[in-house]
Order: sequence, then C-alpha cells, then structure tokens
Amino acid sequence: MSCLKPRILRLEAYTVSQEPGCVKLNQNEAPDDLPPEVKRAVLARLGDIAWNRYPSQGAEALVRRLSADLDFPAEGILVGNGSNEIIQTLVTAACGPDDRLVTVTPGFAVYKRVAATLGVGVEESPLREDFSFDLDDLIARGRGASLVIFASPNNPTGTAIEPGGVEKLLKAVDGLVAVDEAYVEFHGSTALRLTAEHENLVILRTFSKAMGLAGLRLGFLLGPPALVRELAKAKLPFSAGALQQAVALEVLARPPNGSASRKRSPGYPASTRSPRGRTSSCSGSGTSPPRRSTNGSSREASSSGRSAARGSRTSCA
Ligand SMILES: Cc1ncc(COP(=O)(O)O)c(C=O)c1O
Repeated sequence: MSCLKPRILRLEAYTVSQEPGCVKLNQNEAPDDLPPEVKRAVLARLGDIAWNRYPSQGAEALVRRLSADLDFPAEGILVGNGSNEIIQTLVTAACGPDDRLVTVTPGFAVYKRVAATLGVGVEESPLREDFSFDLDDLIARGRGASLVIFASPNNPTGTAIEPGGVEKLLKAVDGLVAVDEAYVEFHGSTALRLTAEHENLVILRTFSKAMGLAGLRLGFLLGPPALVRELAKAKLPFSAGALQQAVALEVLARPPNGSASRKRSPGYPASTRSPRGRTSSCSGSGTSPPRRSTNGSSREASSSGRSAARGSRTSCA
C-alpha cells in the first residue's frame, strides 16, 4: 500500500458498534424518530425540489432560518455535512503539518482522527479526576497552538467550560478556538455571544443530537463573518445536499413538541439566542462542575461518545 501515506496506514479504521436498543449512548442519538406527520410533510417538500440541480451552495434558505432563530448574522453561519465535516474544515484551514492542535482527553475522538489524517500534531489536556476541565492547563497548552478545539458539554463526560472560562482562554491564546456545542441543548449556557468580541472564536452546532436528525448529516458553524468567509473556502462545495436542507427547513418550521413558540425549538434554547447582547445566560466563569460522568470504563471517547445525553431530557418513551 505504498501509494498511501504511512500516517493513513497507521490509523485504525473508524468503526462504531451498532447496538440494538432504544438509547444508544455510544452515538448519543435521539431515541425518537420524527413523528409520521412531520415525515409526510418533509416528503412532500422533497417532491418540490429539482434533484437534477446542485443544491444552493451557501444553503441560503437554511442559513436565513438559523439566523432568524438564533438572532445571529447570516454571514457568520456556515452549514456543512454534519459537524464532522466542519471539524475537518477547521483543521484543514487552521493547521499545517508543523502545527499543533490542542484538545482535551477524554474527548470527542474525531478531532484527533482528523488531525492524524492531515498529519497535524495533537496535544491533549487531561480532564481532572472528576472530569472537570483544567482550564489553566488548557490555556498553557493552547498558547502557540493553531487550533484549540473541545466539546462543551464534553463528550464523553458531560462536563463543560462556562463562557467565562472560554473568555479567559480567548484572552490567552492567538490561534483559532472552536467550542463544539453539539450538546448545548442539554446544558443551557453557550459561548455564542463571545463571537461578537473575538475574531478567532467559532461555535459548532449539529442537527444530529437534540434535533434527532443524525441520519441527515447536517451541522453548522457560527462565528465572526470575516472569519467564516475565509473558512468557507476550505470546505467542500455542495456538501450539504438539497434533501438535507429541505428536511431541516421543514423541521425548523415546526414548533417543538406542540409548543406554541417556534423560537423555543430544540437546538436553540432561549438562553442561547443572543450573540449580540439580548437575553443570554453567558454568565458563568470558568469550568462547570461535572454533572454526569462516564462509567469510567474507558478514558477514550468512542467515535461519537456516550454520555452527554445521559441524564438529559433524552429518554425512551
Ligand atoms: C462533541 C461532538 N461533536 C460532533 C459530533 C458529530 O456531529 P455530526 O453528526 O453533526 O457530525 C458528535 C457526535 O457524536 C459529538 O459528540
């Protein structure tokens, strides 16, 4: 296999065990599928799409919807084929072979995997014994790194760095800082408003978890428009398909669980809708205490993690 790079040959294949059952903690999927009436509406919408055409490159309609729901500038939103693709875009755009990516351990395995694929060095900041983030250690390692990326709440521990801690980190490091908020709906606070003040901060979100659309492959990034414009150049064109975009639009147009207010749709708790100084719960300082932890059987997150949804509102009906 000499036609391939040794670093690729050295990698373990990315596998996820497909366990039967309702709550799958190794992938943190929502246990419930969309209600049949929503699926029917989605299918009707798909019939209106020209399948022979490439999708809208900037996913404009979806971006407009997210922009309105999140009260965030549309130019600061980048939609991709799951947040995994966005993670790959970030590493591609920010890191070269001589650069360093800093993350936490245990943490979401994809950061390290993408770095290994691209030949980027990784440095890991160990979580404390109780799984809380060691912010000082993260800051020390983050100095001089091209990318500092971590999930908050973290997969697989459910622990978080509160916005005050993210701000402290941002004041200390020069590289790109990515806060992966895949599980923000189970936590409440967000670092989103900090993107208005820090040109090197991006926030990752996904439709795969609380939104229950893991099969779609749709994630997005929120950041300062000038930065997002540049990051978009490193992302594959047309990676968010027309069908994905249409399904997401249909789902976002509906109130969650019959609630009267679409603004409270899952994925966008009211407390996270304020990048520009409206209602916000961005008041924490430092790292939050561990609220949930793994069973301790492994220090390495599985491909998709296992615990952030545990103890959350996600449950089997
Ligand atoms: C922290 C974190 N980020 C990103 C992802 C992947 O999200 P997506 O399905 O949008 O690629 C996961 C999935 O397990 C995750 O745990």
